[in-house]
Amino acid sequence: MARGSKHYQKHILVADDDDGLRELLSDLLSEEGYHVETISTGDELITRLQESDQSHDLFILDLMMPGMSGLEVLERLSADGDDTPVIVITGFDTSSNTIRAMQMGAYDYIQKPFDNDEVLVTVRRLFEHQALASRVHDLEQRAELRERMIGRSPAMRETYKTIGRVAASDASVLITGETGTGKELVANILHQNSSRAKGPLIKVNCAALPETLIESELFGHEKGSFTGALNQRKGRFELANQGTILLDEVGEISLPVQKKLLRVLQEGEIERVGGSNVIHVDVRVLAATNRNLIEEVKRGVFREDLYYRLNVINIQMPPLRERRGDIALLVEHFLEKYRYKSDAPPTKISEEAMQRLEEYDWPGNVRQIENEIERAVVLSQGKVITSQILSLAAQDLPTQIDLGTRVRNREGLSSVLEKVERVMLHEALRQSDGDEEEAARLLDLSIDQLKTHLQRIETGS
Ligand SMILES: Nc1ncnc2c1ncn2[C@@H]1O[C@H](COP(=O)(O)OP(=O)(O)OP(=O)(O)O)[C@@H](O)[C@H]1O
Ligand SMILES: [Mg+2]
Repeated sequence: MARGSKHYQKHILVADDDDGLRELLSDLLSEEGYHVETISTGDELITRLQESDQSHDLFILDLMMPGMSGLEVLERLSADGDDTPVIVITGFDTSSNTIRAMQMGAYDYIQKPFDNDEVLVTVRRLFEHQALASRVHDLEQRAELRERMIGRSPAMRETYKTIGRVAASDASVLITGETGTGKELVANILHQNSSRAKGPLIKVNCAALPETLIESELFGHEKGSFTGALNQRKGRFELANQGTILLDEVGEISLPVQKKLLRVLQEGEIERVGGSNVIHVDVRVLAATNRNLIEEVKRGVFREDLYYRLNVINIQMPPLRERRGDIALLVEHFLEKYRYKSDAPPTKISEEAMQRLEEYDWPGNVRQIENEIERAVVLSQGKVITSQILSLAAQDLPTQIDLGTRVRNREGLSSVLEKVERVMLHEALRQSDGDEEEAARLLDLSIDQLKTHLQRIETGS
């Protein structure tokens, strides 16, 4: 991108107490074509917002400032309902603050010491995602499509980026990921954002079709071509003409049908079952699967050439347990959604229940969390959702600490140790039926030590 030429001037406000850094950021971003203002404290930022009605496109906030800290500023912004995106600057030993900041809605963070490119990339990415988000938002306004992709984790941001890049093209996209991660949702968004949005989006669940029917389902058939084919029938590919077809669970298709599929992808031509005419179709193909197709190729049950045709672009949906930061956002989103659906009063969720949801592993991913919240909204009837209302299997929490993911999520040693402590104490008390002396023995602690630990986790200090 030519420097500064493409974006209309975005307005960035930088708050940092370090004169040198302030100047550096100001120069760097101005040179890139942004309009930059700088201030040196959080308090100043808040006063500035109160006193002027200049709107900003981005705040860059140092977390460590004298007076009001970056976290306090974030808190204040969210209390005021100010949704200007925020990028925080953090020192390198403050991962827990970074996590806190991200949880409080910061869009991203830059760690000191940083290099210039990193700053520019982070800022650019934010504006790109905003543009995509607003495009997706426009779509939502359109009649029936009220779906929104929730999530701000790095993994989801990568997904948005890919969607933004490929939606408009005609390239085939293979959407992979565990069950319930949002593959179908992505397919909807891809179609709605493409030049084919006015055309049909036809979905075929390949797993639900019996082997004997899939061919006629996909390609259609002529009257009398097999027992039961009483009339001529158009296949899904023909129906999808000028639009998009989603081959859901594409890993379930048999080898003979795969071969015919390949031909459609290569030539854009189909033949109805029992027919001899070649029919030309103009269809964009999306495919989804929760299988590992490369494995299937290796096992010889999926054609390699078809795999490469489908997988021109791959969108890999991350499992929820690898983006725990999104859990709270999804919970809030579904709380709203189901409150309206069931006409219930606003529902709040207790901190303890939220913590539980955040620690759970969600094998069924977003679908499971959606079901869980729907159920909780109905059961709580407008009261606070406590962990008693949740249906998560009681034994799931204690053992699910999943350290690898937590390290990847930069959760921080002390916060994880705290969870381990909590889990072991609960578990010991459970196994001792609440007998504290027995629990202390199980943990090789004195009764006094146990009590100190219990007190600590109860007060959260
Ligand atoms: N990021 C997200 N934000 C909001 N809702 C989501 C998100 N991801 C998934 N959902 C919702 O979760 C549910 C399951 O998603 P979807 O059907 O797209 O999953 P899938 O990957 O196709 O699952 P399967 O492999 O089981 O078919 C849907 O109701 C969908 O709208
Ligand atoms: Mg699906």
